[in-house]
Amino acid sequence: MIILKLLLKDFTIHELNISIKKIKMKQIVRNVKIIGTGSFVPDTIYTNEYLETILPTNSKWIFENLGIKERRIATEQEFTSDLAWKAGRNAIESAGLSKDDIDLIIVATSTPDRLAPSTACIVQEKLKAFNAVAFDIAAVCSGFLFGMSVASQYVASGVYDNVLVIGADTFSKIIDWKRRDAVFFGDGAGAAVISHSNVNAGFLASRLYSDGRGKDHFTIPGGGSEFPASYQTIDEGKHFFQMNGKAVYDTGTVVLPKAINQVLEDTGLSIDDVHLMIPHQPSIKILQRTAEIIGLPFEKVMTNMDKYANTSGGTIPILLDEVNRAGKIKEGDIILFAAVGSGWTYGASILKWA
Ligand SMILES: CC(C)(COP(=O)(O)OP(=O)(O)OC[C@H]1O[C@@H](n2cnc3c(N)ncnc32)[C@H](O)[C@@H]1OP(=O)(O)O)[C@@H](O)C(=O)NCCC(=O)NCCS
Repeated sequence: MIILKLLLKDFTIHELNISIKKIKMKQIVRNVKIIGTGSFVPDTIYTNEYLETILPTNSKWIFENLGIKERRIATEQEFTSDLAWKAGRNAIESAGLSKDDIDLIIVATSTPDRLAPSTACIVQEKLKAFNAVAFDIAAVCSGFLFGMSVASQYVASGVYDNVLVIGADTFSKIIDWKRRDAVFFGDGAGAAVISHSNVNAGFLASRLYSDGRGKDHFTIPGGGSEFPASYQTIDEGKHFFQMNGKAVYDTGTVVLPKAINQVLEDTGLSIDDVHLMIPHQPSIKILQRTAEIIGLPFEKVMTNMDKYANTSGGTIPILLDEVNRAGKIKEGDIILFAAVGSGWTYGASILKWA
């Protein structure tokens, strides 16, 4: 009799635990999806042919190796926050929301307006979205991917309903326009509103990685606490970006496939299930090699580096906005995002469009 009571008691407690877990799952783990996209690029265009006139480069090499024909360049009076808030406004409009509905603004940038405050706070002020908390993410070219993942955690847990994630950069401001590696970058911003969903779709998996051993292969060394701005740092060009192109290529073509294969494994999907890949835009050769390794036909890899070059944090959301507005994404499509950037930082995520 006593044993029976104990068994019954244990059974009841076990049942209770299950139902509490179920309630918690229902209450705080929500599906997360993208409900709006936007982008903004400056008007000024620098073509490869123009760069030939100011730098030791040639347009054929740029197009064949990097896939770039031209890039947009911000004016002196146009800052990262200007591109960012306009992209954000377009995303909020496309989501059918108002600025007051935004609970959190995340800006992914490596060319902030100022060292302090965050560009996100400046964007919040320009958007007049004063109900939102705002902060920046520094993961360079992977920044938007990192931002989407952070936003997803807040939305899934029920802390925030609508998160505006913006990727924005103005690399033209940190380029030495006398050096040939000036050809890689352009200015631009893109954004997405991330929200909850009742349907069984949205973000299925996301993996982020960092490896600080890569910290010197792409860096902007001057102006921080290591090399505070001085006449010497200016003379030495430390305020310009420095890049080891070969290390970027060698690393990118290893870590992108690694991250992509991991999210495929996480979701139980195969590469054949992927409808579209919306990757960061480092160079056409990195993307071609990555697609070859993972077994994805290159027609499924979206690119726009021919028009904008590498806009760093802006690449994925600008491309997402273009593809979305062009009606290329259908409900239920499996979309693969992937990026690699300075740090190193890299990752991938899979979204079932809803
Ligand atoms: C940039 C990249 C194409 C160069 O390939 P590489 O063979 O390692 O390059 P090298 O620097 O040794 O240059 C090889 C030749 O290419 C040509 N070349 C390199 N950069 C050039 C440029 N900007 N313009 C014109 N020609 C260029 C030159 O002929 C050079 O020979 P030289 O050094 O004798 O003049 C390759 O490293 C790459 O794609 N890296 C990825 C970089 C990237 O994506 N960065 C952005 C994200 S952070």
